[in-house]
Amino acid sequence: MCGIVGYVGNKIASTYVLKSLKFLDYRGYDSAGVGFLNNGKLEITKVVGSVENLSKKLKQNVVDSSIMIGHTRWATHGGVNIKNAHPQTDNANKIAVVHNGIIENYEVLKKELEKKGVCFSSQTDTEIIPNLLHIYLKNVELTTQNILFALSAITKRLVGTYALCVIFENINQIFVCSRFSPLVVCKFDGGAMVSSDLNCLPDDDCFKLTDNTFAVLDGSKIEFFDEFLNQISLRKIKKPKTQFKDDSGKFGSFMEKEIFEDGEAVASTINFLDFNSICDDVVINKESHLFITACGTAYHAGRVFQYILKKICKLESYINYASEFRYSPPFVKKDDVCFFISQSGETADTLSCLKLAQSLEAKTVAITNVQTSTIADLADKNIPTNAGIERAVASTKAFVAQLAVCYFLTLKFAEQLSIDCEFSKEDILFQQKALDELQIENLSKIVDELKDLSSIYVLGRGLDYVSAMEGALKIKEVSYIHCEAIPLGELKHGSIALFNNSTYCFVVMTDKTLFPKVKNNISEIKSRGAKIILITNCEEKLDVNHTIKINTEDILSPFVVSKVFQLFALNISRKKHINVDKPRNLAKSVTVE
Ligand code: M6R
Repeated sequence: MCGIVGYVGNKIASTYVLKSLKFLDYRGYDSAGVGFLNNGKLEITKVVGSVENLSKKLKQNVVDSSIMIGHTRWATHGGVNIKNAHPQTDNANKIAVVHNGIIENYEVLKKELEKKGVCFSSQTDTEIIPNLLHIYLKNVELTTQNILFALSAITKRLVGTYALCVIFENINQIFVCSRFSPLVVCKFDGGAMVSSDLNCLPDDDCFKLTDNTFAVLDGSKIEFFDEFLNQISLRKIKKPKTQFKDDSGKFGSFMEKEIFEDGEAVASTINFLDFNSICDDVVINKESHLFITACGTAYHAGRVFQYILKKICKLESYINYASEFRYSPPFVKKDDVCFFISQSGETADTLSCLKLAQSLEAKTVAITNVQTSTIADLADKNIPTNAGIERAVASTKAFVAQLAVCYFLTLKFAEQLSIDCEFSKEDILFQQKALDELQIENLSKIVDELKDLSSIYVLGRGLDYVSAMEGALKIKEVSYIHCEAIPLGELKHGSIALFNNSTYCFVVMTDKTLFPKVKNNISEIKSRGAKIILITNCEEKLDVNHTIKINTEDILSPFVVSKVFQLFALNISRKKHINVDKPRNLAKSVTVE
């Protein structure tokens, strides 16, 4: 979602800030802006659209400032326009703020400020912050200490989440603070930087702000303060090393490259995990209560986890969308085990659920792809997926890596419960080969048939229905075609009313025990004239419009089936000339609830 960058030092700030803002591109945004000091005077440049536009606009002003804060905005409060882009400033145009997160009580504070004569020019929640600061600092000398006091006082009045970077006219320092929204800082030769994303900082040694802490950056040092403004030290974090390259290379998009890396992501995740120690502190017994919580694609990995825990380990678990979990009374009790699956490790809904589970004294286990993320930090145990940075908005290789962890844990729990597991560690590792070798011969022809449709259905039973859910999400998010997953057996309870000879559906059929039932459903669909694209490991030739033959064991089918849908989503999107890495309205990391 929104991204923050700031630089202060003895070099040209815009070089660092624009490069890092460009890096943040993948997170999805609709406008961008910077604030900087020009001979001590505060200047703001903002654009609707890309960081390239911002660069061009900045070049028109000669910018050799050595202090700058920047932002990419994904609209939450107020439409997409220059006024709502960040930085937001106070009425006197002497204080500039960039903000990630949401201030929930901004309307109350806005009214209070309006009564004091403040005029608002944007519809953002952020604009109250520089104006509150202005009022607290009125008639006070702008020393570091006074500014920190003011920041501490105004943040106490904010309800919600924030990562804030603030600069003041004539002051060569960046003030930052955060609550439930990530901010990382680093000091290097030539200056100091702050960002909401570790990967866009130039140094390997960084510090992550903990909740309710403050930092002051100047060119030579960074100082940290707790909520009572006592000076503190923070733990250094290092950028993780990875074998995955962070550019799209020979591929036309990050999504294509990341799908190509599916197999490697599975293998590198499994090879990274230590089978003997992975569950040292996650011990399960037959009576264990397990909860799984996640959003979007990570939720689908959780659904697969739930299915195999039940099928293999005979363990009942409860799965919830993180956005729903808190609002349906959770029966989580002390010592229950709660799993939180998140590629980014920053998804606000999932993070809130983790905190809720901890307040109920449950044991929390995170499965994340970003080892320095907040969810990874906070959970009692973090089990990493090792898929490398995922840049495309649509999650692909991170999903199969999440599956790898879920299968690995199931195998381990089966061992703890002395149950035979129908797959081995080698079988999970074999998915690399199965994924790498997947070919869809008639892909282009089918894509031509699908690309102009307004609706597609994805159908399956059991585990195949879970794969259908993930397939449908992938298609809709990058092709903009309505795509709905329906459990095959449910069709005749309502949805089949929509089926006629212009309907297209994918049917996933990989579970041998269910073949007879699925074949009956196929006949029902065909007799309504609908077209069927069958994805199956069955040798028998069925009377459908297209068959995509896959090589998989039924219990492990979500790996390969998900790649089939990833390829369809990618290719439909391409044919429709959609920006597949950054589909409209979506952000990579959803840091607001
Ligand atoms: O970073 P997370 O795994 O927590 O993100 C969860 C969802 O926002 C994410 O999976 C989203 O659904 C993707 N766009 C799906 O491709």
